[in-house]
Amino acid sequence: MEFGELLDNSCLVNPVYAIISAQKEARKLLKNALKSVATRADAEILLLRPKEAWQGDLSCSVCFELARTLKKSPKEIAEEVARKVNENHKKIFVEKCEPVNGHLNFFFSPAFFEAALKEIRKGKGDFGRLKLGRGVALVDYSHPNVGKPMHVGHIRSTILGDSIKRLLSFSGYKSVGFNYLGDSGSQVAKLVLAMQKFKDLPEMTNEKSMLDYYVKINQEIEADAALNEEARGILERIEAGDEKTLREVERIREVSMKAFERNYGLLGIVFEEVTGESAFVNDAKKRVVEAVKKGIAIREADGTVIVKLEPELPNTVLMRSNGTTLYLTRDLALADYKWKNYKFALNLYVTAAEQNLHFQQVFKTLEKLGREYCRKCVHIGFGLLFLEEGKISSREGRVVFLEDVLNNARELAKEEIKRTCEYDAQMIEEISTKVGIGAVKFALLRITPEKNISFDLKRVVSFQGDTGAYVQYTYVRASNILRKALEQRTSPGRRPLKALAINDAEKNLVRALADFPIAVESAAKQFRPHILCDYLLDLSNSFSAFYDACPVLKAETLEERNQRLLIVEATKTVLGNGLRLLGIEAPERM
Ligand code: ARG
Repeated sequence: MEFGELLDNSCLVNPVYAIISAQKEARKLLKNALKSVATRADAEILLLRPKEAWQGDLSCSVCFELARTLKKSPKEIAEEVARKVNENHKKIFVEKCEPVNGHLNFFFSPAFFEAALKEIRKGKGDFGRLKLGRGVALVDYSHPNVGKPMHVGHIRSTILGDSIKRLLSFSGYKSVGFNYLGDSGSQVAKLVLAMQKFKDLPEMTNEKSMLDYYVKINQEIEADAALNEEARGILERIEAGDEKTLREVERIREVSMKAFERNYGLLGIVFEEVTGESAFVNDAKKRVVEAVKKGIAIREADGTVIVKLEPELPNTVLMRSNGTTLYLTRDLALADYKWKNYKFALNLYVTAAEQNLHFQQVFKTLEKLGREYCRKCVHIGFGLLFLEEGKISSREGRVVFLEDVLNNARELAKEEIKRTCEYDAQMIEEISTKVGIGAVKFALLRITPEKNISFDLKRVVSFQGDTGAYVQYTYVRASNILRKALEQRTSPGRRPLKALAINDAEKNLVRALADFPIAVESAAKQFRPHILCDYLLDLSNSFSAFYDACPVLKAETLEERNQRLLIVEATKTVLGNGLRLLGIEAPERM
């Protein structure tokens, strides 16, 4: 779903970027031209990037659609329309229109390329910023479970959520990162039990020693059903708010939180609010009462409360017969809490696709409870993450720690950097952190959320291919050119393009740069950062082609050199902005 469908954004004014003006202009020219060739000119005008061989900047295939009603060939119509467009003198960013086998190809004027470069130079870190909406956009993401290690399974939510949050901030919203820890599941109860039982194990101080406790208690529970009952009793005491038990939970939460924070530190991620399921136990019970009162849920003879969602969705339990609430019930209370505190314009949840049904049920129940805000709630479910190491099970101690993955990525990046450059130790440390962590993020973000990811760290960190390191490397190449130019005391000029012809490699690159706001818009509207990853990879390729075809520091004339420096500077700006929206740092050297 797009949030464009959710909200009334009609009163918002987006900044006007050259690419958007150029598209508008082309559309208007086309409409006018069509009026004089066709009586019915209401065919949909779709403007796309032309095939490369055709060279133009925008292409339209509307003539194929018109051919049937006009009883002429698309080729004939295209030729007529193009002539009309070219006769029109009100052209600023569109230079000409060429008919190619029934398609219409628009070519942008030098004024367009100049305007695009100017706006990037002026906009800097803000180039691409949009106003797609306003108000608070809550992003519920990462949300690891207390008492369990933060394993790679959580990394996708953490990284995807962070990028979505950044995209929404860049699009006009006030983004709020919300971390809703799973701190009241059976794993916490089992760990409390383990703490009481295993006095001889080394103290539980980090997530690894915690895992030892967890594995051991699971083994013993398996062998002894009475222990399982004990754990269940603890869970009930947590639900009932028993103080002594809650203090023990608090200790476990502290140990977990320290580990989570180390990971967030490595990833450069901050949350505006951190809370946990346990905080919503009491409110959840009130929602159960409300649901029964409103007649949307029924209390069965044994005390179980079930909310009726059929036929659209399966019914589900709101309260067990022993009076305890469920994950879903607590999510009802949480949603109310978020609404009360933030009056959000958007409320997103980023979790594994396993929870698709869960969130459908949560939103449906909210609707039945009469919560208008349920229309502003969106769940983004993503696929699984596979490592070469195989499937994860914390119960059996088969866990890949996120921290280890991140550190391995840094090590791999370090090897690569040491092989190719000679920097001092501190510099190498700094660069390999940016590259290693950035590579992991990029590899996860560039896959469509719905798809599963199988993840080979070596390939992920490679400087070649469709990787984050490749994009970062492109950024560094641009930086290097600018640094050298500065050493030679020449910086990008102030008078771009006007007097000068712009060649195809330059045009391709500048047009790609100008497209950035469009990439931001579709990534933000669809909550899909991979659109931005694709864009940055394409942009990096355009830069390589430009770099091969156009000498910059060794350009033939001063004007040409100035113009190209300006293009290089713009490339650096846009790559930097794009990486930032993915939560990836751009190194100056690597
Ligand atoms: N802690 C949960 C898990 O690991 C995810 C929580 C998602 N957020 C929510 N509001 N339900 O599965």
